[in-house]
Amino acid sequence: MAELVAEIAAFRELLADRRQAGKTVGLVPTMGALHAGHRRLLEIARAETDVVVASIFVNPTQFNRQDDLHQYPRTLEQDLAVCRAAGVDLVFAPSATEMYPQAQLTWIDVSALTQHLCGPGRPGHFQGVATVVMKLFQIAQPDRAYFGEKDAQQLAVIHRMVKDLNVPVTVVPVATVREPDGLALSSRNQHLSPSEREQAAVLSQALFAARDLVEHGERSAAVIASAVAPILKDVLLEYFSLVNPENLLPVERVEGPVLIAAAIWIGSTRLIDNVKVTPLA
Ligand code: PAJ
Repeated sequence: MAELVAEIAAFRELLADRRQAGKTVGLVPTMGALHAGHRRLLEIARAETDVVVASIFVNPTQFNRQDDLHQYPRTLEQDLAVCRAAGVDLVFAPSATEMYPQAQLTWIDVSALTQHLCGPGRPGHFQGVATVVMKLFQIAQPDRAYFGEKDAQQLAVIHRMVKDLNVPVTVVPVATVREPDGLALSSRNQHLSPSEREQAAVLSQALFAARDLVEHGERSAAVIASAVAPILKDVLLEYFSLVNPENLLPVERVEGPVLIAAAIWIGSTRLIDNVKVTPLA
């Protein structure tokens, strides 16, 4: 159970055997440091597909800050235990040279979707994500692939890439898993000190308050943003936006389903979160 494979050729062979036996393959791409959010993806993949593959790869091309890449938690032994408990069949954990043996000249740029929200603050990030996910799709050729709504922009980028490039995979969105105080689980939460951790709850509080306003009939994005600003007054706000969930363009008035998304900094830790809301009438 939960066989660990580091090489692409060996991984492909193992999967080919299973596919020949008529089994469906579910892929859960991760960067490790697995928590209950990742676990949810694995559980759903386990319920929906015959062979569950988790990939664990801290992808250097999606980090726009070297300190962030080097500080990213690496906990392979614990991650393997999580995978084992979740009934994962294969863990693909390649090295950086296995994934990028030579300079990468081919990049996937899902242009318009990356111009707002996290795009401006993280230049090159989504290009790195889309490219590595496409590489993982080519390597594993999954029937289904699981992604968290926590990273709504990433999910939109991957959905669009799959459509635009006719990739034969079904992308399955998974709802955000939260701590009891509302904080979305994230590998980056472990960088927070106890007092920062307490403060971090303001992010989901602000998003939930904004959602309540929409549900109670408020339609102006500017009014909503200024109403929740006091909740975020003690943290550094990178963005707070109401966008169309399909094209991720900012909306001025809520006239249909809307994604409310924010990024904040607490000390040197950057946190993102979002909620989706559909106004009643
Ligand atoms: P990572 O941050 O490890 O996340 C792996 C998957 O878990 C992503 O699809 C993410 O949206 C999902 N996830 C994270 N926190 C979650 C939560 N609280 N609730 C539900 N799902 C959650 O996202 C990446 O890795 C990388 O960019 C990757 C797609 C693997 C490409 O390198």
